[in-house]
Amino acid sequence: MLVATSLSVSSGALLAQDAKRGAEISKPCAACHGDDGNSIAPTFPRLAGQHEDYLLHSLRSYRNGGRKNAIMTAQIANLSDQDFRDLSSHYARLKGQLSTMR
Ligand code: HEC
Repeated sequence: MLVATSLSVSSGALLAQDAKRGAEISKPCAACHGDDGNSIAPTFPRLAGQHEDYLLHSLRSYRNGGRKNAIMTAQIANLSDQDFRDLSSHYARLKGQLSTMR
């Protein structure tokens, strides 16, 4: 996977989602969700090709306590809402099981 240097945009306020930056900060997530977002373990949901707004909603829910899971709450503890947007954008663009349905 490419490790691009798009971090230059991280100065100043980011408004839109940035899938490239999402890819860069998704490295720790790969341990459970797979390198390409397609986890092979049934205990870890597949994120690839999932709808972007669903992923974003899920991440925000772990943060605000609407969705409770000790593992994921720990994973997102130090992430910002911009991180959530970038990660959601990244995973939504990967090819997953839902991709063929579009
Ligand atoms: C240690 C393993 C582990 C790591 C690392 C991890 N996750 Fe998870 N993730 C889980 C588990 C387990 C669940 C299911 C939790 C539940 O039942 O709500 C989950 C659920 C999710 C969901 C909800 C998926 C759905 O279909 O509802 C999202 C989104 C997600 N993780 C994103 C991430 C992101 C982004 C990262 C990296 C910042 C990450 N995860 C790192 C284990 C992990």
